Amino acid sequence: MIILGIETSCDETAAAIIETRREKINLLSNIVSSQIELHAAWGGVVPNLAAREHLKNILPVISEALRTAKKKSSELDLICITNGPGLIPALLIGTTTAKTLSYLWQKPLLGIHHIEGHIYANFLDLTRSGKKIEFPALCLVVSGGHTQLVLMQKHLEYQIIGETLDDAAGEAFDKVARILGLSYPGGPIVSKIADEYAPEKNRFEIKLPRPMLKSNNFNFSFSGIKTAVLYATKKNQEKLADRDFIAEMCREFQTAVCDVLIHKTINAAKKYQPKTILLAGGVSANNHLRGRLSTAISKNLADTTYSIPELAHSLDNAAMIAVAGFYRWKNMPPENKAILNNTWQKLETNANLKLKK
Ligand code: KG4
Ligand code: ZN
Repeated sequence: MIILGIETSCDETAAAIIETRREKINLLSNIVSSQIELHAAWGGVVPNLAAREHLKNILPVISEALRTAKKKSSELDLICITNGPGLIPALLIGTTTAKTLSYLWQKPLLGIHHIEGHIYANFLDLTRSGKKIEFPALCLVVSGGHTQLVLMQKHLEYQIIGETLDDAAGEAFDKVARILGLSYPGGPIVSKIADEYAPEKNRFEIKLPRPMLKSNNFNFSFSGIKTAVLYATKKNQEKLADRDFIAEMCREFQTAVCDVLIHKTINAAKKYQPKTILLAGGVSANNHLRGRLSTAISKNLADTTYSIPELAHSLDNAAMIAVAGFYRWKNMPPENKAILNNTWQKLETNANLKLKK
């Protein structure tokens, strides 16, 4: 079947086409129009500005996705749209467009949870990598809005066994970047500076906390690390012009966040015995996290496989939404599939949509 995915939950206007044959997923196009430069001037995403950009870009992005895939709208079998969670003005542009196209083109429409999309980015890369994802699977979801450990006994079934009590991991990267006077989004720049800093250098002996590392559950907290960075920079104003100080702070911050994420994931895996551990969400683009989690799994969990999305599919995109939609469609009884022709009348857009079965 041929599926159009659309994603506008934050600051990327995205559309993608996938073609599926049995289990095999072929990515025919994956168009992302990023608004990073626009929002960087404000130090973060401004919801109404994002909506205005989505409105300008959404139809050209969808036609580009169809053109690149060499498909006509009449050939589509399904449209999938992120209907939450995210920024409401941004989400509404996507859902309103998808509903209109579903009505106009007479195509079934399916609303997809954004985090479900991030998890299913791993399944998109399955065909190409030849790797296997087996259930139960444990997903470490790390994005700008979420940090969760999600247990999946089978496809589309989610049990949240732990989550952040305050900032999400990506949000902490963004806030720390702002404190250090670096650009938005913070994750890519903080990790680049951290990774480039010589590992043997330790001029300032910076030590940040590892919150909740020893807590008896699988929850996280990142606001304390961010506050510690704030205090350390306030106390050392004169060192801010020293590139080594900034680099050492970035490295210690990245290490502290990854220490907690990895420790909790391995402990959760020891308890729940998953066959596969999946990494998902924008922070899965972090090289330090990708590498260290891989090492920790090989060392501690001999029988557990590890799956990460390709770098290109770690950040927000619409291919992941189309793939999640494909698995939902496949697992749906025929009578429910028929109802999707009327989804355009009633699909809800929800900024706080919960991940559920
Ligand atoms: O999944 P995503 O694209 O959007 C949300 O759903 O939130 O994630 C964006 C987040 C931002 O906070 C960004 O700073 C972070 O992912 N991020 C990174 C890296 N690349 C993006 N964090 C750490 N290291 C990276 N290389
Ligand atoms: Zn995302």
